[in-house]
Amino acid sequence: MPYDFLESSFRNLIASIKYQPLQDFVNAAFFKHGIWEKFHVWPAAISLHHAYTNGLLEHSVSVAEGAIGISKHYSEFGIPVNLDLVIAGALLHDIGKTEAYSIFPSPSMTVAGNVIEHISMGYYMFMHCAELEKLEDDITMAIAHIILSHHGKREYSSPVVPATPEAMIVNTADDLDFKLSYWKLQMDSIGGGAEMTDYLSLVERKLWRGIKPR
Ligand SMILES: [Fe+2]
Ligand SMILES: [Fe+2]
Repeated sequence: MPYDFLESSFRNLIASIKYQPLQDFVNAAFFKHGIWEKFHVWPAAISLHHAYTNGLLEHSVSVAEGAIGISKHYSEFGIPVNLDLVIAGALLHDIGKTEAYSIFPSPSMTVAGNVIEHISMGYYMFMHCAELEKLEDDITMAIAHIILSHHGKREYSSPVVPATPEAMIVNTADDLDFKLSYWKLQMDSIGGGAEMTDYLSLVERKLWRGIKPR
């Protein structure tokens, strides 16, 4: 994705948060408290998915837009979803990666990334900003819950599992974004002639190219 498109998508997502104090908070977290500085260039991983410059920005925009689509669908089917929380939570869910990874001299995991991990680091960074910006307590807890639960399972390094519609939706959009980008990467790497990958421990399955649309 071209960088300019990603940056304007990111800014438009923030601007689409309707509750002004929350929109102001997300702007402040990224642009006043310095998260944006690394966030807009960082990879989302050291290898495997979005492991390239701007990968974290691309992944976060993709998760937010996917999560908005899921939220709108379920709102129409009678599930009350707080769209502002979904957008804020999706944009903030992986901020800990800016401290868990370093890109100089080459992409690698920091010591803190190894021993504290990006979910705990993201939670800490978010809570620090929330305190400085005096974000309301209930909104703070709801977004903290999205950040802490976004991997969906305790064995996948989330200390809590998603308990709200907003957290379930961000977790699902995050997981889907990872799996689809990993599928694309694998298909590109096995070449046009091959149908299936070998067993991939990361996704605990072999991946199939599927059939072409007619
Ligand atoms: Fe994550
Ligand atoms: Fe993520």
